[in-house]
Amino acid sequence: MQEKRIITKSSRETFDFGHHLGEAIDFPLVIFLKGEMGAGKTLFSKGFVAGMGLEDEVTSPTYTIVNEYGNPPKIFHFDLYRLQDPDELYEMGFEDYLTQGCTLLLEWPDLITEYSFEPKLEIILTAQIDMPDQREIILKTDNQKVAQVLNRILNAMK
Ligand SMILES: Nc1ncnc2c1ncn2[C@@H]1O[C@H](COP(=O)(O)OP(=O)(O)OP(=O)(O)O)[C@@H](O)[C@H]1O
Ligand SMILES: [Mg+2]
Repeated sequence: MQEKRIITKSSRETFDFGHHLGEAIDFPLVIFLKGEMGAGKTLFSKGFVAGMGLEDEVTSPTYTIVNEYGNPPKIFHFDLYRLQDPDELYEMGFEDYLTQGCTLLLEWPDLITEYSFEPKLEIILTAQIDMPDQREIILKTDNQKVAQVLNRILNAMK
């Protein structure tokens, strides 16, 4: 498991980090986005989608559960906060989204325990006490290709 850590000092920096990643990823990737409410999961997603060159407006899928971007879709953006039970994933046809060769952005992914994804990146955003515009971002991956992309981006951002 490779683990990286960055600090962003503004909303813009989190957006830009997402943008760099979206630009650099040229294969379908499953991204778990963890962190409390307001940590910046959706903001990161906005940057990522724009970085992939898509002009779709990115909004929080809290109520829709899933938004899709691109035509044909290139990204499915989920927010599973409102789901209570893994069975609800089946009911919404979650499995059908996995076989379409798209990138998945998954906010509140804790219900997803029985699927394994390769390549996969886990991003954990944490707000910083006393610094409202700062976030710690931890990046975890087992995938060599993803780790290489991260190394490249983080070096370029230094
Ligand atoms: N460094 C930063 N990185 C990300 N967001 C920041 C930062 N500083 C301030 N913010 C603000 O924090 C908020 C993050 O909101 P966002 O909707 O992205 O959170 P979220 O993690 O998706 O929350 P939810 O769990 O409710 O979906 C925005 O209002 C953003 O402007
Ligand atoms: Mg959100």
